[in-house]
Amino acid sequence: MKTLTLDLSGIYTAVTPQSIQAWEEKSNQYQQQLHAGTGLGNDFLGWINLPCEISEEQLSSIEEAARGLQERCDYVVSIGIGGSYLGARAVIEALTPSFEAYQTKHTAPQVIFAGHNIGEDYLSELVAFLRDKRFGLINISKSGTTTEPAIAFRILKALLEEQVGREEARERIIAVTDKARGALRTLADKEGYKTFIIPDDIGGRFSVLTPVGLLPIAVAGFDIRELVRGAREMKALVDESVPFAENPSALYAAARNSLYQAGKKIEILGNFHPRLHYIGEWWKQLYGESEGKDHKGIFNASVDFSADLHSMGQWIQEGERSIFETIVSIAEPDTTLRIESDEANLDGLNYLAGKRVDEVNKMAELGVRVAHIDGGVPNIRIVLPKLDAYYIGQLFYFFEKAVGISGYMLEVNPFNQPGVEAYKKNMFALLEKPGFEADTEAIKARLK
Ligand code: PA5
Repeated sequence: MKTLTLDLSGIYTAVTPQSIQAWEEKSNQYQQQLHAGTGLGNDFLGWINLPCEISEEQLSSIEEAARGLQERCDYVVSIGIGGSYLGARAVIEALTPSFEAYQTKHTAPQVIFAGHNIGEDYLSELVAFLRDKRFGLINISKSGTTTEPAIAFRILKALLEEQVGREEARERIIAVTDKARGALRTLADKEGYKTFIIPDDIGGRFSVLTPVGLLPIAVAGFDIRELVRGAREMKALVDESVPFAENPSALYAAARNSLYQAGKKIEILGNFHPRLHYIGEWWKQLYGESEGKDHKGIFNASVDFSADLHSMGQWIQEGERSIFETIVSIAEPDTTLRIESDEANLDGLNYLAGKRVDEVNKMAELGVRVAHIDGGVPNIRIVLPKLDAYYIGQLFYFFEKAVGISGYMLEVNPFNQPGVEAYKKNMFALLEKPGFEADTEAIKARLK
């Protein structure tokens, strides 16, 4: 069986193998706490067994709902933010051919995302675009009260009802939310929308394998069973019973924390494959929101190579030496394209004639690795045999398990996000939301 592999050989200029090994006992203890539910944030551990607990019935009902939207819609807007957005986008972007949006015919509806910004132009352009299109909505919010998606939903629901009437709109709207709480639950029940439930014990950024991620991914025409299968197989490979030295999630967690203790406070996730951009965005949320607390935590950023080698590449190579990188590499691309010989050779590229474009890409990757290691940037490599749903499922679970262990190594609660509330309180106060009167007064006095 082919699997994701982890290569730590590029970090030993900054930390020793012994420093990684030194985490073994703690890692085992944290694994045990995660599985027994005895550590910090233990009310949000539903993701651990999720890949094995998703039933045939749940998968079938997601697929059936997806088919319903596929039949009725050419475009489906997936509305959500943070964990209610990034997982689905990461998978859809990773699996969709790069120029699919420019094709005139599609085999499945195009999934468009909204609710992750409050850009007036973005929303009005979306309204203008959808006005004469057959479209539907998936409204995703665990709390059911998040402002950004709520605004997008109000606007797009009105458009849809105006376009097809309330009855038909009801057939084209699905809500994914809490089983009982929140404005979205109330609204969905009142309007009679089909709903899917986000389990109480699964936080947003760990919810990609719930209907939060699976429904939009299925609507886009991708195989959610393969995604779940990949996660399930990775679960076995990073289980608490797997010895530390053979457990990629435990080793990645240990490597990150050793590097952090050695002064490497920034981690970039890099890729050499443009379709991985949103995997980087998903990872950034998973790690940043899980670990950045109590004034601790690695700062996570993501970069797309080669593009960013010609911008951030300078900083990475020669800026402050507080950075390490994790590269997600794809062993074999989906297609083959060779560089042809050219008689005139005016561009001087004949030395590459006969080579696959991917061979050049792989040499760029190797060249970067050596240059960065030489320049003081430790390099971790994660290799996926292919970019498909199965291996993305593996990658998701690998990163989820690692962040649980890593957060405990850092001695923070990796499953909450109290810091996200601060901006919301100020925004509500500034917008004079009922219930925030005292905050409104205080912020207005402060900003006078
Ligand atoms: O990881 C998280 O919990 C957050 O990023 C949430 O997913 C995000 O804030 C959206 O929340 P909700 O689904 O409640 O609208």
